[in-house]
Amino acid sequence: MSFMELAAERYSVRSYSDRPVEREKIDRILKAAQLAPTAVNFQPQMIYVLKSDEAMSNINRLCRCVYGAPMVFLICSDERRTWKSQTEPGYSSGEMDCSIVCTHMMLEAWEQGLGSVWVRLFDVEAVAKAFALPPYIKPVCLLPVGYASEDAVPYAPWHDVYRPIESFCKEL
Ligand SMILES: Cc1cc2nc3c(=O)[nH]c(=O)nc-3n(C[C@H](O)[C@H](O)[C@H](O)COP(=O)(O)O)c2cc1C
Repeated sequence: MSFMELAAERYSVRSYSDRPVEREKIDRILKAAQLAPTAVNFQPQMIYVLKSDEAMSNINRLCRCVYGAPMVFLICSDERRTWKSQTEPGYSSGEMDCSIVCTHMMLEAWEQGLGSVWVRLFDVEAVAKAFALPPYIKPVCLLPVGYASEDAVPYAPWHDVYRPIESFCKEL
C-alpha cells in the first residue's frame, strides 16, 4: 500500500471487536513512535500502554471516546525533555512532537490492519492523577487501538468531506 493509499483509506474507528492486539503489532506501533521526528530530536514522548483490566477500567471511566477498544496508548510529553524556544518565552515543543508521534502510530496501526482514533476529549488532570503521572509528564492525547468491529464505518460527515486544496493553500 502506498502512503497516499493508506492516508486515503484510514479513518477513525469508533467500534472495536474484543480481539486483543498481538504483542508484535504493539511493538511495531511503538517502533513507529520511536522513528518520529521531534524538535532537535529530543524525543520527549512518554507513552503508557493501557491494557490491564485496571488501566482499561480507569480510562473508560475518565473518557467516553474509547469506543470498546481493547487497549489505549496514552501519549504524553515529558516536559523536562521538550525543546524550549530562546526567542519565544514559554514555547515548548511537547504537544507538536507528540502529535507527530501519534500520527506515526496511527498510520502504522492501519498498516498492521488495526483501527485507531485520536482522542483529546478527556480531563488531562484527572487522567494524570488516575495513572499517578509525575508533574512533568503532560498527557497530550489518547490513541485507542484494536481490530475494527464488523459494523465499523467512517463517521460521516467528518471523515471524507475535504476542503478544496485552493481554499487552504496559497502560493506566494
Ligand atoms: C487533535 C484531534 C483530536 C481529536 N479528538 C477526538 C475525540 O476526542 N473523540 C473522537 O471521537 N475523535 C477525535 N478525533 C478524531 C477526529 O474527529 C477525526 O480524525 C476527524 O473527524 C476526521 O475523520 P477521520 O479520522 O475518520 O478521517 C480527534 C482528532 C484530532 C486530530
